[in-house]
Amino acid sequence: MNIIVTSLKGGVGKSTTSIYLAAAAVERGYEPVTLIDADPQASSAEWLELWPLDGITVVEAPSERTVTRAIGRVEGLVVVDTPPGNERITQSVVALGDAVVIPTRAGGVEYSRVLATLELIPATTPRGVVICAARLGTNDLEAAIAWWKEQKVEVWGVIPERVGIAAGPEARLSREGLENYDAVLLRALRGWR
Ligand SMILES: Nc1ncnc2c1ncn2[C@@H]1O[C@H](COP(=O)(O)OP(=O)(O)OP(=O)(O)O)[C@@H](O)[C@H]1O
Ligand SMILES: [Mg+2]
Repeated sequence: MNIIVTSLKGGVGKSTTSIYLAAAAVERGYEPVTLIDADPQASSAEWLELWPLDGITVVEAPSERTVTRAIGRVEGLVVVDTPPGNERITQSVVALGDAVVIPTRAGGVEYSRVLATLELIPATTPRGVVICAARLGTNDLEAAIAWWKEQKVEVWGVIPERVGIAAGPEARLSREGLENYDAVLLRALRGWR
């Protein structure tokens, strides 16, 4: 089962989402769980190097060739973190996904970049957006959710803005983050479990 976390847009929460989804999968008892980091910046690989999580194996695969090969080889539940702004890698990786998770933001979103990402996903592949660092109870968030509904794109999760989730490798994963991402994981796995 390959879950691809991707967006052509940078800085939206791909790496954070990848780590938390992999950690939520371990908590649910999936084994093995592998995080493939296809971003040459290797932020999620570095994160797990600084704060290793039991049950998650990290594979660094920072090119189209290495990532497609890694996805073909690894068994079990796989989460793939991808680099921003690279249409070629994005397209070849999403083609190998059983589900695609697209992190996005509520305010000031470049919807065109998200729509361009959606267009790269094969028509029958389940996909959903996850609104990251969301300010709960704001009009921005309500408007974003309504907009996605109008576009007939499923919202698989709304992750609140929290310092604990933003802390990255400086801290342990936040319980609230794990719970929110567990719900996203269940949506991504629906139809497969
Ligand atoms: N729920 C959240 N609450 C607060 N901050 C968050 C949350 N999720 C992500 N962030 C912060 O947003 C920033 C971007 O997140 P992240 O690195 O995961 O994005 P990315 O899409 O992987 O970026 P890049 O395109 O550079 O790879 C980080 O500083 C991260 O800590
Ligand atoms: Mg990243």
